[in-house]
Amino acid sequence: MTQTSNGSELAATINSIIAEHKTLEGPLLPILHASQQALGYIPSEAVPMIAEQLQLTKAEVHGVISFYHFFRSSPAGNNTIQICRAESCQSMGSRELEAEIKQRLKVDYHQTTADGEITLEPVYCLGNCACSPAIRVNDDIHGRVDMNKFENIVDELLTVAVELKL
Ligand code: FES
Repeated sequence: MTQTSNGSELAATINSIIAEHKTLEGPLLPILHASQQALGYIPSEAVPMIAEQLQLTKAEVHGVISFYHFFRSSPAGNNTIQICRAESCQSMGSRELEAEIKQRLKVDYHQTTADGEITLEPVYCLGNCACSPAIRVNDDIHGRVDMNKFENIVDELLTVAVELKL
């Protein structure tokens, strides 16, 4: 997953993705998936380009992007934390945990902390129900998470980030 900052490079990437997928039946979702895969998110500049090529309105394209939580409209942070919202985790207190985590990070779902380090996402079952409540931090799944454990995980993430920057 690469992020392109140059505007013309961005437009070229989006144009080539549209060209590659526009003849498919139902091309919008494949185009959105491919854009997110290539860029890490779906930039606002992509919306009018996709709309024009698929003969849709910008509102229709935007509506699909915002309907599917999977799609990002802005770049993700350096780390992604997903909190499980499925049944087993809920029965073990994940709703309270998510409220505390949102407060601690000062973000809602699909947002990134002010320092750009952590993006918070919901997820629906991590396959770790026996150890609910569960979260995923980048590629690692953690079970029986409480705020103490969460603080340790965040400390470790941010310490690694500081060490990498030194
Ligand atoms: S319900 Fe949360 S890991 Fe399965």
